[in-house]
Amino acid sequence: MADLINGRAIAARLVRDVSEQVAAIVAQSGLAPGLAVVLVGSDAASEVYVARKIETCRAVGIRSIERRLPADTSQAELLSLIDELNADPTVHGILVQLPLPAPLDSNLVLDRIKPAKDVDGFHPVNVGRLSTGTGGLVPCTPLGCMMLLDEVIDDYRGLNAVVIGKSNIVGKPLALLLLERECTVTVTHIETRDLADIARRADIVVAAAGAPRLVRGYWVKEGAVVIDVGITRMTAADGKTKLVGDCATDELGHARAITPVPGGVGPMTIACLVANTVCAATLAAH
Ligand code: GUN
Repeated sequence: MADLINGRAIAARLVRDVSEQVAAIVAQSGLAPGLAVVLVGSDAASEVYVARKIETCRAVGIRSIERRLPADTSQAELLSLIDELNADPTVHGILVQLPLPAPLDSNLVLDRIKPAKDVDGFHPVNVGRLSTGTGGLVPCTPLGCMMLLDEVIDDYRGLNAVVIGKSNIVGKPLALLLLERECTVTVTHIETRDLADIARRADIVVAAAGAPRLVRGYWVKEGAVVIDVGITRMTAADGKTKLVGDCATDELGHARAITPVPGGVGPMTIACLVANTVCAATLAAH
């Protein structure tokens, strides 16, 4: 059987490390790192994510500053809130929960966040830094995926990595991180021809297409490591809802290691957010 990579346990370890770093910052400066979480409107999934982010801040001793705005907030009002948070020295990280309600333009909003406070790593300056391998804040989900891979892979050099999904939040930044480790990276997506054949050549498969059970057993070669980023809520015939990943996990017994859904990548994303907030606070102090 494939080993299960336990994202809950690895995230808990990271959260513990972050708590210690926060305590050290407080001891030295008297000021806890602060994370502003901006939620516009009341998308149900976003409410759940934001609640988890704030709860994890509390658990590690980060001050969270929750700013909720109505769905009919104007672009100008949202940009002026970003300006206010950029200027506030007690705010070290700014996170604007996506998606924003129409007609707000998320690119304009993300571009306004000071790159040094951009704990999501979505600002073009941080995207550019990642693409040139020159530091900067790295998006939380791809960072979490790399930490899960690090549990089972020591030497990435020359490995074939296939990323399924080309989003700015996961697929593209993850491809850059794998490239930085000297993998041979193939970025694919839902329109890719012969996707199964391409995936079957991979030593590392990362499924981030948001397509339930897309990756079947015959797509994965013996001994490959599979990271499942997908998380789709499905309603079964009995009316119960469950979370389904992008991989048919029950067909992946021949893989070397796989991540479960839930309990794989999900907990890592939030742990990496608090880790990034501590990074931002530490850099601000220097
Ligand atoms: N919506 C879905 N994923 C994310 C994320 O990583 N960050 C933010 N801000 N919004 C999201």
